[in-house]
Amino acid sequence: MTYFISVFNQKGGVAKTTTCLSLGGCLVEMGRTVLLVDLDPQANLTASLTLLPRSLTCTVSDVLEGKATLLNASQRTTVMGLNILPANASLALLDRALYQSEAYEVRLKNAVSELNPALYDYVLIDCPPSLGPLTLNALTVANLMIIPTQAEYYALKSLENVFVLVNLTRRRTNPGLRYRVLVTMYDRRNAISGRMLERMHDTYDNALFNTVIDIDTKLREGPLQGKPITVYSPSTRAAQQYRALAKEVMEYE
Ligand SMILES: Nc1ncnc2c1ncn2[C@@H]1O[C@H](COP(=O)(O)OP(=O)(O)OP(=O)(O)O)[C@@H](O)[C@H]1O
Ligand SMILES: [Mg+2]
Repeated sequence: MTYFISVFNQKGGVAKTTTCLSLGGCLVEMGRTVLLVDLDPQANLTASLTLLPRSLTCTVSDVLEGKATLLNASQRTTVMGLNILPANASLALLDRALYQSEAYEVRLKNAVSELNPALYDYVLIDCPPSLGPLTLNALTVANLMIIPTQAEYYALKSLENVFVLVNLTRRRTNPGLRYRVLVTMYDRRNAISGRMLERMHDTYDNALFNTVIDIDTKLREGPLQGKPITVYSPSTRAAQQYRALAKEVMEYE
């Protein structure tokens, strides 16, 4: 069976895309097959695997519009076992148009229902930093939602909206949706980070991943080379931390 994971936070720049790419890299390293789905009109995930978004003729937009199958629109990457359903800027127009169409939240769910469950062990969906139709599609199909966040006051305040969305999705389209919060870009030299992390443990308890991802500039360099951290810098601390995350994720199934 395929396990669907959506990576979402309404807040921008919290490492949603980095988490998709790195976790995907770790899961294939552990022998799993993975499809990355770029559901963000910024197309950062697509660009980070050296695909030029503007030159693409078939993308996730075509799949959501029913003009292409998920299988036809997906592409191999340079990493064995890691495929991508890419995006480009056309997704921004579709996001607006979807509001007017009926049952727009189930477009992705319908598209993946045609997928052979033996093809991929995991589908990882990178969401945009907004609460629109694309994100609702991602949450409707997800078994697990990963919510990356920094251990900072404003970042934690913005999680309240995310939990409203989780409850809405559970009521409307996906009663079985689970979620886990992931602390990213953690700065161990900073005492306030430690205090915020303690507070998060008190607040979220077992909804928090045990794994914490530290600040590591190697994670910024990997996408420039079109590679996940497991390939770009496999022995760096960030790669090890994302491997620990992959193990935790595998236990949730
Ligand atoms: N652990 C980390 N250490 C250092 N830099 C990081 C780390 N994680 C992510 N980054 C960097 O932070 C920036 C934002 O990360 P990323 O693009 O993954 O966030 P995002 O949540 O997907 O952003 P958006 O909301 O715009 O889609 C990027 O430059 C990325 O390389
Ligand atoms: Mg992103």
